[in-house]
Amino acid sequence: MTYFKTFWTLLFIVKGYFAMEPIILIHGGAGDISDSRVKGKFDGVKIAVVAGHKILEQGGSALDAVEAAVVSMENDENFNAGYGSVLNLRGEVAMEASIMRGEDLNVGAVTLVKDFSHPISIAHKVLTDSPHSFLGGEGAKLFALEKGFTTVPPESLISENAKKALEEFLQHGEFGRTEIGMKNEAGVGTVGAVAIDKHGHIAVATSTGGMNGKAVGRIGDTPLIGSGTYADDNVGGVSTTGHGESILKYCLAHSIIKLMENGTDAATATREAVTGMTDRLKNTAGAITLSKSGDVGIFFSSKRMSWAYIKSNKIYYGIEHNQILEEDYISK
Ligand code: GLY
Repeated sequence: MTYFKTFWTLLFIVKGYFAMEPIILIHGGAGDISDSRVKGKFDGVKIAVVAGHKILEQGGSALDAVEAAVVSMENDENFNAGYGSVLNLRGEVAMEASIMRGEDLNVGAVTLVKDFSHPISIAHKVLTDSPHSFLGGEGAKLFALEKGFTTVPPESLISENAKKALEEFLQHGEFGRTEIGMKNEAGVGTVGAVAIDKHGHIAVATSTGGMNGKAVGRIGDTPLIGSGTYADDNVGGVSTTGHGESILKYCLAHSIIKLMENGTDAATATREAVTGMTDRLKNTAGAITLSKSGDVGIFFSSKRMSWAYIKSNKIYYGIEHNQILEEDYISK
């Protein structure tokens, strides 16, 4: 009996010793982000990455951490997700989100969500509580109501910037350069998070309002597993942002995972896949990647992409090409 107890105690100590260092990496969207938007993006990604990291520090799961980081950005009008989402041609918000757990490849996704503040939380509930993986429109709403989510008036999700961006699109609209109307102050973006928890489990979450001036019923890459989101504990996790129609044709998230599965490191795989998509389809994107051993990949072919991560008591962040800023991170 004593031997038995000693064995389990030792195993517990050894497991603790070899526990992974938790890491969370997030993005706040790729695009031609205007100078006036940079500060808001930096503030927003730093708040969101801390929200996610707090969960990891307390021993929480990667899945809960990525949800918390994305919820923070869904609340922030500096990002194209939740409140502040871009509008469709009818002037409505229609949001999409997906989440994936790398331990068992389980997923949850929602699309055409119009009257809830946090599509990522509904996607998380689809993952845990639904026999299905992907719910849209009326079905997603019924499911959310059944699970106790409360509706908000759809107009409450519309920001002044989103209204201006749609007006501008209707006057001079041009699809395709980025996911949103970039010639104006609505330079916001899709959001995403990738995390690895102390048990080495990986999760990814991505959420968006889609493309400014999109057709009613348009669905982009963000809720599509393999395009906007992918997580596999055996390889790593990826969240993407950028031109949805291109990302989904290229299955960008899974293209990065495939390269890593074949031995390419996270940074190279992210750069090669994003560049490959842009060369082939002539539109821009960005992606963030964590490998199963905690290596980071960040790359974008757009002008800018905001990102941040916390590792070894430092917050690293940036928005320009080849920019890595850092600050000490002291958890409170
Ligand atoms: N990447 C977001 C969208 O195009 O919908």
